[in-house]
Amino acid sequence: MKHTPERPLRVAILISGRGSNMQALAQTVVAERLPVDICTVLANRPDAAGLAWARAQGLPAEALSHKTFDSRDAFDAALLARLDALRPDYILLAGFMRVLGSDFVRHFDGKIINIHPSLLPAFPGLHTHQQALAQGVQWHGCTVHFVTPVLDHGPIIAQGAIPVLAGDTPDHLAARLLPVEHQVYTQVLRWLAEGRVSLCADGRVQLDGAPHRAWAGPHLFNEQDCHEHE
Ligand code: GRF
Repeated sequence: MKHTPERPLRVAILISGRGSNMQALAQTVVAERLPVDICTVLANRPDAAGLAWARAQGLPAEALSHKTFDSRDAFDAALLARLDALRPDYILLAGFMRVLGSDFVRHFDGKIINIHPSLLPAFPGLHTHQQALAQGVQWHGCTVHFVTPVLDHGPIIAQGAIPVLAGDTPDHLAARLLPVEHQVYTQVLRWLAEGRVSLCADGRVQLDGAPHRAWAGPHLFNEQDCHEHE
């Protein structure tokens, strides 16, 4: 469905820390007047820097501290109840560092999207930049994907890649990748707002009604290649 200012796409953005991906998404909504209603910026850590930024922008922002729950399941259940009350069309994980249980993921089947700092399926989990350097890959990147019960797995919507350069450290890679993450995630948000991307029953991603090969950022392709998808 193509969203309009009268019927905006409702998104909940979940963060754990700095929230630069969330900021890029929120800034794009404003700058491009996307028909997107950010119904909450929710952090599992009350001290997440991104929460303060969101509040300063006048966005609804809240904390649900996982530390106040006895178990992972109890936290998931509380998060599920909160998000159900907000009725988001999509739940965007943007540096959200809690693993969500399979009951939670199945409840929101096809509605949860994550950004992961590697070219999945390579390097799921933590320390992805370190893993990439240890393996000697020549290309590294990020992946925006639908979330399934398997961690850092699931149908890929878009990827962005950067070359690994001589002398790179994990910090260098992280710093060079971050703006690409922002670019790729905001592109996915545009597609969602325009109703162009969807997850089919067969588990494949469709863009404009056709099977979709992951979009890679413009740093890999020339302008014409990119516009072919628009
Ligand atoms: C990003 O690299 C994201 O891909 C990963 O955690 C980092 C979060 O950064 N999952 P930020 O909080 O969005 O600035």
